[in-house]
Amino acid sequence: MKVEQFPEDLRDYLIPAAADGLGYNCLACGRIHPPRELYYTCPDCGGLLLLEDARQDRLTERPGPFWRRLFDYRRMLNVQALSGIFTFHEFLAPLIPVEDIVYLGEGHSPVVAAPDHLAREIGLPFFVKHDGQNPSASFKDRGMAAAVSYLKYLIRSRGLTEVLAVCASTGDTSAAAALYSAALGDLVKSAVLLPKGKVTRTQLSQPLGAGARVFELPGLFDDCMKVVEYLSENYRVALLNSKNPWRVLGQESYAFELCQQFDYEVGDLALFVPVGNAGNITAVMSGLLKMRRCGVIERLPKVLAVQSSHANPVFRYFNQPEPDRVYRPVTVRPSVAQAAMIGDPVSFPRVLRMVRDYRQAAGEDRFHVLQVEEQAIMDHMILANRGGLTVCTQGGEGLAGLREALRRGLVGPGDRAVVDSTAHMLKFAEFQNAYFDDRLADGYEVQANPALINRPRDISPRGVPLPEPGRTQSPEDRAAYVSAAARDIAEALGLKSR
Ligand SMILES: Cc1ncc(COP(=O)(O)O)c(C=O)c1O
Ligand SMILES: [Zn+2]
Repeated sequence: MKVEQFPEDLRDYLIPAAADGLGYNCLACGRIHPPRELYYTCPDCGGLLLLEDARQDRLTERPGPFWRRLFDYRRMLNVQALSGIFTFHEFLAPLIPVEDIVYLGEGHSPVVAAPDHLAREIGLPFFVKHDGQNPSASFKDRGMAAAVSYLKYLIRSRGLTEVLAVCASTGDTSAAAALYSAALGDLVKSAVLLPKGKVTRTQLSQPLGAGARVFELPGLFDDCMKVVEYLSENYRVALLNSKNPWRVLGQESYAFELCQQFDYEVGDLALFVPVGNAGNITAVMSGLLKMRRCGVIERLPKVLAVQSSHANPVFRYFNQPEPDRVYRPVTVRPSVAQAAMIGDPVSFPRVLRMVRDYRQAAGEDRFHVLQVEEQAIMDHMILANRGGLTVCTQGGEGLAGLREALRRGLVGPGDRAVVDSTAHMLKFAEFQNAYFDDRLADGYEVQANPALINRPRDISPRGVPLPEPGRTQSPEDRAAYVSAAARDIAEALGLKSR
């Protein structure tokens, strides 16, 4: 729809003007730094940063229904930059002018209700938000769109040149970083660091395809992260890891969208979010709090963070009795939720602060951290697929978390769950294939459930000439082969003849 076709009172607001107010808030010393530069940590004390809007009054001075109406109408506006996460420009990053927004089709991922038979099996009505349906096939595109748009704004307004963007990754961040950097052409080159053999082949193919410099390092993600931190402290590079607070800010769009997709009535929802570096869970809570503060939603949903027992530092922390909780990184064990296989989450201080704020606003029992077993993760990934829902292993982790929450009585009748499938299932198909071949036992501690195993069956009927690529069969040979192959398949399927 064209601007002049919208209701008159909205037209002036549809295309937002850039506005200041955002600042880097240091979680350690409390100082606020203006966003004139790309900071990853506090320039005064090295503390972790969150971007916060000091001009919240601009948002709160208008009533919630105004924002709801604006965002709903804006979805009909065919302006590319405002079609993705920046539909929520005023709530996300008002500093970034519309002309600098890099849009590759991210955001507005579908929310799909589980069919009844699957909901019955799990024990609660639930939805999957398919965040794998983003340009690089994971939710990381949300944060990357924000971080790279800010970078473009800096490049244009500050005349930066020869920007080299770097990140370490469990696979998905590097895919997103490489893609969004590629979209900026010569303005930004990217380099990604990956733990060798610890990302799937599909994930590895992504930054290679987008033309990034790809480095494989020994060890795990946590080791790569240390190298990237050293690089960013000692060389001129732009860090695109979630230490970069613009990444976390962009991921708030998940929460905004979810509110919109449920007509801003989210009080009966229970959101299940897999946790690795704890950036996404921080962003989800931060986004929900913003929506509530501005009256866009009235009630806050339950938020349930889920970790594998093989990579569970956040679960371990919250599982200790207060007030003597101590944070300790863990040594991770192999996990099929490989993208979340992180022992020392970069965003731990952020999630700590956000849990405090969320519990204060929503109530103590509106946030929990759950732990699930590797076996449950794999079984639930395949179970979802058997119900028509394609979820990645991290999505399987979320669904296993829903089961666990039901068992512990943290959710029950009257609740509706939303599972965040953070990546596309096909990125993690290797794990499904290994499960079907029952090759996951060592380290992962997963045994294939025979009822879930599925393998292709070879059909090569005996006594007839078989087709060979590149050779033409005679009509008689072809007819003999077709009827023999059909007979074998009919026998395997137990078909009755007509
Ligand atoms: C597919 C996927 N799911 C979940 C996570 C965990 O998210 P976070 O690190 O923000 O906690 C990651 C990355 O770390 C990921 O790539
Ligand atoms: Zn500081």
